[in-house]
Amino acid sequence: MSSSLTYRLRTRPVGLHGDHGDESWGLAWAALEWLEANVQPGWHTLETGSGHSTIVIASRGAVHAAVTPDPGEESRFRAACAELGVPTDAVTFHIGPSHVVLPTLPATPLDLVLIDGAHGFPYPVIDWWSVASRVRIGGVVLLDDAYMPPVAAIIDGLRGDPAWEIESTAGYRTVILRKRAETLPHFDWDGRTVGGRMSFRYLPPGPRVVASARHRFFSTRLGLRIVALVRRNAGLRWRKTG
Ligand SMILES: C[S@@+](CC[C@H](N)C(=O)[O-])C[C@H]1O[C@@H](n2cnc3c(N)ncnc32)[C@H](O)[C@@H]1O
Repeated sequence: MSSSLTYRLRTRPVGLHGDHGDESWGLAWAALEWLEANVQPGWHTLETGSGHSTIVIASRGAVHAAVTPDPGEESRFRAACAELGVPTDAVTFHIGPSHVVLPTLPATPLDLVLIDGAHGFPYPVIDWWSVASRVRIGGVVLLDDAYMPPVAAIIDGLRGDPAWEIESTAGYRTVILRKRAETLPHFDWDGRTVGGRMSFRYLPPGPRVVASARHRFFSTRLGLRIVALVRRNAGLRWRKTG
């Protein structure tokens, strides 16, 4: 772990987001560790949004596409990778909102997709729907910020669906779906709640309690001040915790 890229980013986070590139809206460290451990050289991968995740996926030698409306993220990504010694030749940025860009991309089969772009309803659902048929059977979709109702709607809707196994989580926020078949979801609604309230219900009971308490604490003024203090050494502004 101590020599891993995730560890290096954790020690010195890179500012890739915001108007001045001095913010990091990154994935939780556990999810970055998962990407670093699981993405294989030569995999075809795609993400909505970009950031630390793009650096880690590039470092694994994947043929990667990142979709973001902010062109500044690409230049900051390439500069950061040059400093970190991460090759970027196999990474393509597609600039624009994902609901516009994804339908225009070639239908290359995908081994892994990370959905972490626009989080407002219905964009996470549109992102999942736009890539679902391109994910190869056995491939994975990572849904970040799964406690947010527009993301949770995908998990609630796919629970019990034979085509998508809700396999595990990486940290508290990121759910890993594995594609098992090509079948479509049911056309009829079966009465279940989809989206609902913000919650960590995809976690087992113990981690669920911890994640809820953490989230509640880090949403208070005191919690936010503690996060700001801890992060101050990195010289960055942070939006997410974990
Ligand atoms: C939470 S950040 C992604 C963090 C990244 N996964 C990381 O590890 O640092 C959200 C990203 O979505 C991008 N974004 C915002 N609106 C978007 C949209 N409509 N389509 C695609 N990406 C969008 C932002 O520019 C940003 O790169």
